[in-house]
Amino acid sequence: MIIRPEQPADAAAIRRVLEAAFPGPDEANLVEELRADGDAVIALVSVDAADIVGHVMFSPMAAPFRALGLGPVAVAPDRQRSGIGDSLIRQGLAEAKAADWQGVFVLGDPAYYRRFGFDPALAQGFASPYAGPHLMALALGGPLPATNGRVDYAPAFGRLG
Ligand SMILES: CC(C)(COP(=O)(O)OP(=O)(O)OC[C@H]1O[C@@H](n2cnc3c(N)ncnc32)[C@H](O)[C@@H]1OP(=O)(O)O)[C@@H](O)C(=O)NCCC(=O)NCCS
Repeated sequence: MIIRPEQPADAAAIRRVLEAAFPGPDEANLVEELRADGDAVIALVSVDAADIVGHVMFSPMAAPFRALGLGPVAVAPDRQRSGIGDSLIRQGLAEAKAADWQGVFVLGDPAYYRRFGFDPALAQGFASPYAGPHLMALALGGPLPATNGRVDYAPAFGRLG
């Protein structure tokens, strides 16, 4: 199993993973739109033998500091719960930190994302259409430079059908 940056030739296999992992095509479309918009700042695949079995994308947010949004993240259903999502997310966060991003936001289940250090309390002060118990933040390389203000995901998220 290796994790590497996605490449153009991976697009169809990534789409298959996303369509299998989620109930509909929205997340697969979102990934393609983020890519087309130039917002796929960090995009990684997990490859086992020749098969792409997982994918994660991070895109820039409009925020009071240099922030990325994590998501979507998807693992092929028959490969879930074997640490693939965990490895993809940890590698992406390490790359974000190395590139001096100051924070990462994610919308999801705190039961899953807390293990990476994401905290709903850290996101509480920020105004967002997604504000609530499922919006979490993680500081990279030091405390967040601001604890309030407005945060918006990349435009493709707003076009989700
Ligand atoms: C969520 C997802 C990316 C996690 O990847 P994964 O490779 O299956 O997960 P990992 O093996 O890294 O982690 C497994 C752990 O996460 C937990 N877990 C997995 N999905 C979870 C969820 N939705 N909520 C809470 N916990 C979850 C498991 O219980 C397990 O915990 P344990 O290690 O304490 O037993 C994957 O299950 C998936 O693609 N799900 C469908 C798409 C999705 O919901 N994506 C996230 C929203 S963008």
